[in-house]
Parts: sequence; structure tokens; C-alpha cells
Amino acid sequence: MDITTRIIPVDRDDPDPAVIEDAARVLRAGGLVAFATETVYGLGADATNPEALAGIFAAKGRPPSNPLIVHADGMEMARSCVTDWTEDADTLARSFWPGPLTLVLPRSRMIPDLVTAGRDTVGVRVPEPMVARRLITALGRPIAAPSANRSNRISPTRASHVANDLNGRIALILDSGMTTVGLESTVVVVRSRPPRILRPGPISTRDLRRVLNNRPVEEDKCLHETGTPSSPGQGPVHYAPRTKAVRVDPSGLSELSLPGPSGLLYFDRYDPPSTPRFYRRFLMGTPEVAAGTLYTALHELDALGLSLIVVVPPPDRPEWRAVRDRLWRATTPL
Ligand code: TXA
Ligand code: MG
Repeated sequence: MDITTRIIPVDRDDPDPAVIEDAARVLRAGGLVAFATETVYGLGADATNPEALAGIFAAKGRPPSNPLIVHADGMEMARSCVTDWTEDADTLARSFWPGPLTLVLPRSRMIPDLVTAGRDTVGVRVPEPMVARRLITALGRPIAAPSANRSNRISPTRASHVANDLNGRIALILDSGMTTVGLESTVVVVRSRPPRILRPGPISTRDLRRVLNNRPVEEDKCLHETGTPSSPGQGPVHYAPRTKAVRVDPSGLSELSLPGPSGLLYFDRYDPPSTPRFYRRFLMGTPEVAAGTLYTALHELDALGLSLIVVVPPPDRPEWRAVRDRLWRATTPL
């Protein structure tokens, strides 16, 4: 696989229609286009074209058992992807779309097997950025898009991250700058009651319950709570940097001997020791800041060729759940 990857800048607030049409043409021809959503960059293909979908799995090196999320430009297109639009789906979609929430529902006949990895359900969401929605509208069909990284690597929050991973393997990258939310969407099953969270994300359990009249919402255990993945493609090797990355309790850090220049990620009110061996430090003081900078920080640390990345995880509290889930995938215990 060696094709020329074009990278085209596009204004996030005022995208050039000619660029959008160019990208839609690539998608119509079965090609792959990476574009920014509010969470991470997605690697898009026409969700109704099995050959194009197969291209996603090939470019990423993604196992075919891992289903793809389908992106729609609005409620109407999203509903055409599913058969059973439940009352809860309607409430959640009206409350959080466009936004970082994926709803898992029974799929319609429009959605090929490759999208769902053979399941009878499909994950669907309406992304917020104008570039993403204009592209879907220009194609006139939903776009299937996993995160635009090679399988088991860190999700991309900038076009350069996509290029580093997928250059020569995809036709086009639309560069509209850094993503705003920074962490993958919350995935919720809404085919029956109560709704169940498969992947924690920017929309929290509390957010969901607030719009569901405080009815219960089930949560699959996160990786950091059980050590086992909760939904397909959520295996423990996901999102890992190439540099060895370990997680350490605050109390363990003083005993840790660093093999050489290292990176440090820490959260909340933790006060780290001041050894010069921590060549680069990132403090992420709130869950929102952490979501917005975690992948960017990991990409930056990985590019420095350090001997170790040390993570002191944030406390086990509900507001940190999504960040802890991703940290547990990116690190091993010391
Ligand atoms: O924010 C996001 O969700 C980003 C952007 C690009 O939209 N996409 C993303 O896709 O994170 P990906 O492929 O990296 O993760 C998709 C995950 C799957 O691994 C699986 O856990 C879940 O979504 N998923 C998708 N369809 C599903 C289904 N039918 N049943 C259960 N889980 C599903
Ligand atoms: Mg991914």
C-alpha cells in the first residue's frame, strides 16, 4: 500500500466548498479521507460501500471484529441507519447532538456487515464540527470513521498525528487544526432500558442521567476497574505509545528510579518531585483539560524518544472515569 496522501488545510469556521467537494469526490470513489471531529480525527469512508470500508481496516491494520462508528449530518440521516429509534435514543440525541455521544441501536439494511463486524447493532453519532458535517452532507450518505490512527496506537488530535501514522496509506487528510474535546465519544447502548455505557467519554453518566429524569444508567466496568475490556475493540493494548509507559501511585514515585530522561503526566492536586530526569512534565488539573491534552501530550512525549513515560493517575472519582480508562490502556502498572 503506497499512495500519495494529500494534506489540505481547511478553515474550521468557514470551510471552502471546493475543498469539501474534493474530499466528497474521494469518498464517492471509495477512497479514505481523514477529518477532524470534536473528539479525535476520524478516518472516513462511505459507510454504505463495502470496498471502501475494507480499506479502513487495511489502512489501520484493524481487526475485522472491531465495529466502526457511523457519522451522520443530522438526526434524519442518523435515524436512517437504525431500525428502532427508542424514546431514550430520541432524548439523548436531542440533548447531546451534535456532540461526542455515540448511540448503539439495531442497524438498518443500509449498513453493511463490515461496519458492525457482523453485529445486529450499529453505533451512530452526529459530530459537531462544521467541516465534518458539511463533508457528510456533500457525500449524501453517512461516513464510517474510526479514529485515524494505526491500530493500537494513540488517537490523533492533530492532522500531523494522522500523517505520521497513515501517510502513504490514505488519499486525503483535511487539516482543520486541533480537535476541541480530545477524547473519544461516550458509547451508549439504548436499544433497551436502562441505557448502558460501553465506553466512558466526554458525556458523563451524570450528564446522561440529568436528561433522563435521573433514571438509572448502567455502566460497564472500565478497564481500570476490572482489567478486562467492556466492549469490542476496547482491549487493554489500545492507545499505547511506543515509549514504555508506566502508571505509578503518588506514594510509589519517590522510590522509582528513572533509567534516563523521562516524561511525566500528572493530574489534580498532586505535587511531583523535582528531579531533572523528568525532562518534560504535563500537569492536567481538571478532567476537561486532561481530555483536551492527554493524546497531544502522549504524542509529544513519544516523539522525544525518552526512556520512560511516567503517569501518576488522577483519583478514582466519577469525573475522572474516562481519562482513567484511556490511561489504563496506554500504560502498564509498575
Ligand atoms: O469519538 C469517537 O467516537 C471517534 C470519532 C472519530 O468519532 N471514533 C472512534 O472510533 O473512537 P473507534 O473505532 O476508535 O472506536 C469505536 C468503538 C469500537 O471499538 C467499539 O468499542 C464501539 O465504538 N462500537 C462501535 N459500534 C459498536 C456496536 N455496534 N456495538 C458495540 N460497540 C460498538
Ligand atoms: Mg480508536
